[in-house]
Amino acid sequence: MDSLLIKGGVPLHGEVTISGAKNAVLPIMAATLLTAEPCVIRRVPDLSDVKFMGQILMSLGAQVKFEGDTLRVHAAKVRGVGDYDLIRKMRGSICIMGPLLARLKQATVSLPGGCIIGARPINLHLKGFEALGAKITVEGGYVRAKARRLTGADLFLGGRAGSTVLGTANVMMAATLAEGVTIIESAACEPEVVDLANFLTAMGAKITGAGSPTITVTGVKALHGAEHEVIPDRIEAATFALAAAATDGEVTLRGARPDHMHAVLDKLHDAGVQVERRGTALNVRRNGRLKPVDITTLPYAGFPTDAQAQMMVLMAVTPGISIITERIFESRFMHVSELARLGADIEIEGPSAIVKGGRPLSGAPVMASDLRASAALVIAGLAARGKTLVNRVYHLDRGYENIDGKLRQLGARIERKEET
Ligand code: EPU
Repeated sequence: MDSLLIKGGVPLHGEVTISGAKNAVLPIMAATLLTAEPCVIRRVPDLSDVKFMGQILMSLGAQVKFEGDTLRVHAAKVRGVGDYDLIRKMRGSICIMGPLLARLKQATVSLPGGCIIGARPINLHLKGFEALGAKITVEGGYVRAKARRLTGADLFLGGRAGSTVLGTANVMMAATLAEGVTIIESAACEPEVVDLANFLTAMGAKITGAGSPTITVTGVKALHGAEHEVIPDRIEAATFALAAAATDGEVTLRGARPDHMHAVLDKLHDAGVQVERRGTALNVRRNGRLKPVDITTLPYAGFPTDAQAQMMVLMAVTPGISIITERIFESRFMHVSELARLGADIEIEGPSAIVKGGRPLSGAPVMASDLRASAALVIAGLAARGKTLVNRVYHLDRGYENIDGKLRQLGARIERKEET
């Protein structure tokens, strides 16, 4: 298992190119199962989650070929039963269920189970499939959806924490081949859902309203092959912006989409970080002294839960008190105890973290627990004096393309080591 050794205290400077979005490409890869024709996906990030999804598609019978950042998938014939262990390992794999159900009228996958950031149920996905006419059974750790035919329906997908991103993706994909019109209310509005809808539309699907809480899908008989370029990763862009601000550096994000980042950019502005558009790039640097800001994570267009841990690090180096409230996942504060090892003063009170910022951070060995917590630890290590060893870097490799290489390019002293 690799780890990252960071010698901190160096401000980041330079330019970095933002990769394709992990959370857009995973459902788009699943969507290729909807057609027997070849599909081409561009700006595919080199991530372990993406390779893993490729393996899942192959296990279902598809041909999968990676050529640089282009991915070709040809699912001429597919099986409706996913490999139990492959699917169980990655939460994002649940979104193969909608396409399989649409194409084969049945799908059997292992239950994705919980993960370190919370319980992560799939009740809303299943509610959507049922509304389209599928019967759901759970047996031996597998969940099975089966229908004689799928029929369009009006359905409400809101849950405990608001909308569901992959639930919306799954039901939208299932509805593309249903008979009649499906209206999804309380749909997720995330840019990744819009990107998927754009790919499905290129495949011949009839979808309106993606990006709003009401998505309408008019079923068609069949979908065809299509080409698509994945949107840039707004969470990777936010992560580099926060790393630039936390280290008091200046970084230009090439290819970022500020129109997908309003909530993050707004909070950066309030915190005293200047983000300037320069053509298709964003230039990020501090604008005088940092100021504490309160943050609550919410579904899009609110502040993204996937940038909460990284924002907490900026607040930890900002003099004053800030309150960070997590409303999407119930236990997404695993980074707090690790940040304490670097000297951060953070207390958890129910769904909120109270950050008493401004204490100098100093390097320490820390353990990454999930993808975004790991990114936060890396930023903290970059901002801290001395050496930080971030263990279990495989979490980072799931969702950040070449993160150590990109950071080195910005002047960070960071090296990858084999864990002993
Ligand atoms: N929820 C339910 N029932 C469901 C589905 C979700 O109650 O059937 C709840 C969840 O427990 C959570 C909330 O709804 O409280 C939102 O979860 P959502 O379904 O939106 O999450 P997801 O679709 O499983 C995606 C991303 C996550 C990201 C969330 C929220 C992918 C592959 N994953 O997960 O990304 O945090 O949306 O934006 O797209 C990450 O990249 O680090 C990551 C965890």
